[in-house]
Amino acid sequence: MKVLVTGGLGYIGSHTVVELQQAGFEVVVIDNCSNASEKVLKGITAITGSTPAFEKFDLKNKKKVFDFFNRHQDIRGVIHFAASKSVNESIEQPLLYYENNIASLIYLLQAIESNIAFVFSSSCTVYGQASQLPISEDAPIQLAQSPYGNTKQIGEEIIIDQCKANKNFSAVLLRYFNPIGAHPSAMIGELPLGIPQNLVPFITQTAAGIRPELLVFGNDYPTHDGTCIRDYIHVTDLAKAHLVALEHVLNKTQKNNPEIFNLGTGKGSSVLEAISSFEKIAETKLAYRFVNRREGDIAAAYADTEKANKILGWKAQSSLDQAMLTAWNWEKKIRNI
Ligand code: WQD
Repeated sequence: MKVLVTGGLGYIGSHTVVELQQAGFEVVVIDNCSNASEKVLKGITAITGSTPAFEKFDLKNKKKVFDFFNRHQDIRGVIHFAASKSVNESIEQPLLYYENNIASLIYLLQAIESNIAFVFSSSCTVYGQASQLPISEDAPIQLAQSPYGNTKQIGEEIIIDQCKANKNFSAVLLRYFNPIGAHPSAMIGELPLGIPQNLVPFITQTAAGIRPELLVFGNDYPTHDGTCIRDYIHVTDLAKAHLVALEHVLNKTQKNNPEIFNLGTGKGSSVLEAISSFEKIAETKLAYRFVNRREGDIAAAYADTEKANKILGWKAQSSLDQAMLTAWNWEKKIRNI
């Protein structure tokens, strides 16, 4: 069965392509390579033994999107990752984010014939600072803290309206918590452009000597150790969730359309606990110091995973230490350490 993965050369996309291929799906990737390299195809092939079909173009090019689906009438599923995802950049360049993330989604949905399963990459950012932890799927959506977060909320609403209007259109919305780590083979992993925004790549780059030290953004939060709490989920666990969610839609077993799932481990870890985890697996001391809070950060977020466990039969397998070890192995691999 043929499945399209947009943004399939990206971090979560590439790990999902691996899981789809290993489950027997024929995968086609569309990526404009604005935040990913074609070299990732080599890593995917090294793991699965087969290279996914790849087309390099921008989903904002409506004509190319329609042309693509005319040439691939046998596509049965679409997993849509392609989007810009930097919170800070979205605050500096909101129109870039609204155009890129929303227009490409609309063109994709317009071009998709009915009876194609649609999986949308969303984010726990839609909950803002939830008043109740762990966060379940019926937690209220809060005013977006950034244009990036708003594009995820708007994207979800567009899909909900399309499901209402088109009975043959079925979708799932997957709200990720914090993806970390790399494929155990260290053939693919996270490749942040420039200075990493996210905690774990900053930790591994500091340990690799690329960054002088990690700056911990605030230790005065109302948490057990004063640093922010997040739900760090291994990227391969997250990739596997996309596979079961796709099958859930394809098998038409879903009760709601779209069905919404929180994808996390269900366990919260503070920044200091993430640092300790890294120090343990790398057997080293990490250079870090506390600085002011980062604008827009929330104190704590971790997932209530009961719905995904029950309906998808999916549960994250990797612990924080195991995920952190794969992140470090990947960093050492790409830096030849
Ligand atoms: C985690 C914690 C920081 C870097 C973001 C997006 C979210 C999703 C995942 C795309 C926070 C602290 C970080 C650093 C630090 N992205 N930190 N020093 O902010 O929870 O989520 O990435 O979908 O939508 O919002 O992840 O890794 O940036 O931060 O102290 O150099 O680490 O303050 O508490 P975040 P993060």
